[in-house]
Amino acid sequence: MRIAKRLITEEAITITVDGKPYSAYPGDTVASAIYATGKRAWHRSRSNEARGLFCGMGVCYDCLVTVDGVDNLRACQTLVRAGMTVTTNLESETL
Ligand code: FES
Repeated sequence: MRIAKRLITEEAITITVDGKPYSAYPGDTVASAIYATGKRAWHRSRSNEARGLFCGMGVCYDCLVTVDGVDNLRACQTLVRAGMTVTTNLESETL
């Protein structure tokens, strides 16, 4: 998650999440970049529950995404990079 009044000194980069372009900043995690879009859930668990950022430290696996075709990466542990393509399995919902 980003600190609200963070001093941003670096240029924004663009990542694609579920086919839509979003701005992110070097040092953001994929989770913080998705969270900044207003989306609060982006993964559906095996029990069909909506999940998103929970622990933020790589323990709960509630934030799983696909990045550049690699499945089941923890969004909270994956740093953004320009041109990255992120796919969620809960693309139409914002909780
Ligand atoms: S939020 Fe718990 S592993 Fe990412």
